Amino acid sequence: MNKKKRFETMLINKGYSSQDFHGSLNPPIFHSSTFTFSGAEQGEKRFAGEEEGFIYSRLGNPTVRVLEERMAALEKGEAALAFGSGMAAVSAVLFHFVYSGCHILCSRGVYGCTFGLLDLLHKKFGVTHTFSPMQTAEEIEVAIHDLTCCIYIETPINPTMELIDIRLVTDVAKKYGIPVVVDNTFCSPYLQNPLELGADYVIHSATKYISGHGDVIAGIVVGKNKEDMQKIRMTTQKDIGGIIAPFDAWLLLRGLKTLHVRMDRHVENTRELANYLKSHPFIEDIIYPGNPNSPY
Ligand SMILES: Cc1ncc(COP(=O)(O)O)c(C=O)c1O
Repeated sequence: MNKKKRFETMLINKGYSSQDFHGSLNPPIFHSSTFTFSGAEQGEKRFAGEEEGFIYSRLGNPTVRVLEERMAALEKGEAALAFGSGMAAVSAVLFHFVYSGCHILCSRGVYGCTFGLLDLLHKKFGVTHTFSPMQTAEEIEVAIHDLTCCIYIETPINPTMELIDIRLVTDVAKKYGIPVVVDNTFCSPYLQNPLELGADYVIHSATKYISGHGDVIAGIVVGKNKEDMQKIRMTTQKDIGGIIAPFDAWLLLRGLKTLHVRMDRHVENTRELANYLKSHPFIEDIIYPGNPNSPY
């Protein structure tokens, strides 16, 4: 099976076996806050992490787990976590790294509420941030210092459509041992896989293309390292608590099934619209990376 077909098949079935659930084509929605144990001994083992299994839906839920496994495979990571919003995902990752007085290096633009969170971290905890165009290795290196705890980029940037070469950033970051987080909301895993380009974490506002139907607010983090993602699950996800509801996870699983078809159409429509607007008398400039005059 070629790569594209494998991706399209994973959109439909990865992480779920219907035979485990009476042949049900779609995963059941497990609306349960709590899970029972066969006895106190099993409960003790699960709480101690010595036995696989669900305990309480803030720590994991079977419907949500299908979504997490599917997203991890689509983004070519080892594990994923689902959140109640894109901003809950951004917060869980940033809180995983920051310590009082540290520094975050960011792409020149970031989504407005990510900017709001950076500002809050600065005002409340003295966490500084620098914005960089990151178009050359020098531009990245000059902004890194001893207290830089992570590099956070969005590409394409919302809403300026500037692009950053992810491989360029991750090559520099590796020299300094700094983790790289990429907000991949705009491309979706169909068009771009930052982990394959050396990034450590990928974030999605799943509210957008992952859902595709405008009916859910949600976020996803995919990481390249399973143990590290387990740490996020058991700290900034569990203790801050920005989890997704099982029904919303189910809506995302339904949306994902058509991701490839929708993204092809979005790309085609955007190209046509940009072409049409080029000759429109009221339009001064078109910011579109596919435009032949675009610096990207
Ligand atoms: C690039 C990007 N990242 C993060 C977010 C935040 O996601 P949410 O609105 O799902 O919390 C958005 C929302 O528009 C976004 O466009």
